[in-house]
Amino acid sequence: MTRTAPLTEPTAPPARPTTGGRRLTGLQPTGRLHLGNLLGAIRPIIAGQYRAETIVFLADLHALTVAHQPNEVRTRTLEQATTLLAAGLDPDRTTFYVQSQVSEHTELHYLLECTAGYGEAHRMIQFKEKSAAQEHVRLSLLSYPVLMAADILLHQADEVPVGADQSQHLELTRTVAQRFNARYGPTFVVPRAVYPTVSARVMDLADPTRKMGKTNGTALGTIFLLDPPEVIRRKVTRAVTDPGRSVEYDPRGRPGVANLLEILAAAVGAAPTTLAADYRSYAQLKHAVVEALDGLLRPIRLRHAELARDPGYVRRVLAEGAERARENAAETVYRAKRAIGLLD
Ligand code: TRP
Repeated sequence: MTRTAPLTEPTAPPARPTTGGRRLTGLQPTGRLHLGNLLGAIRPIIAGQYRAETIVFLADLHALTVAHQPNEVRTRTLEQATTLLAAGLDPDRTTFYVQSQVSEHTELHYLLECTAGYGEAHRMIQFKEKSAAQEHVRLSLLSYPVLMAADILLHQADEVPVGADQSQHLELTRTVAQRFNARYGPTFVVPRAVYPTVSARVMDLADPTRKMGKTNGTALGTIFLLDPPEVIRRKVTRAVTDPGRSVEYDPRGRPGVANLLEILAAAVGAAPTTLAADYRSYAQLKHAVVEALDGLLRPIRLRHAELARDPGYVRRVLAEGAERARENAAETVYRAKRAIGLLD
């Protein structure tokens, strides 16, 4: 007689999703979304949303920390939301909303301003850089990283994908969370930074020594996600290449060609070194990049145009997302207020 395991045998605890944590991303709606955003931030979010609990919000309050046009903030916020949905963000899976629609962000921000120090905020490299470039420095530019900490801690996020320019802000977030927990009792999850892979770094086509889309980056060297095909063709055709003729992957010696190969690699899912062997000339390589970008961006552009015809739909999605975000956020603010001494 064969024995089968009795049905009553204790079972293993329910399987956890392998990546475990809750992931949170904030995107500041200051400019138009570009290829660097797509490959470095948006694509990983979309790929990850079925594996890990994902929260994405548009950080419109952060857009007010430097001189701004009121109309522009509203327009860009809606445009970015529409583009993210067009790129495949699934609002049934991902909590997706606009920061200013969830007032708990600012509520927690204040409590954390009472936890972070002036010196800590003042030391931030991004504050030094941005404030040096302005005559009138908004106080909110100084406390910007504290608002960012509030964004993250509000959701008890475990993982925050960030570029190198945000790693110092994430360190501050961890410091503030640990300090609050130590002083007032365990309240916040201490988050960790996750960094995108190096190949996701897209450089400017007209100046391959700088990152694509950086503020004051070149307009000709940046591929915007909603650029019409002929504009993309022109930008790629005019991309700076390097002396020499053969196509080789050499990021140090030939940064322009390496960047084109990396873009192609990311678009078609192959290794840049392997791809290099397929092309005899820079012109051939550029032609392939134009085709690959068309394959990558055309569906997003078409879907965006479709969604943009019904802004009411996008607004509804965002309003539902805000409502969902508020559930956890309200719980965190309640606990923080109680811990810090405002509630019984
Ligand atoms: N400061 C981030 C940036 O400029 C945007 C942002 C705001 C953010 N709040 C956040 C990113 C919280 C991650 C988590 O890119």
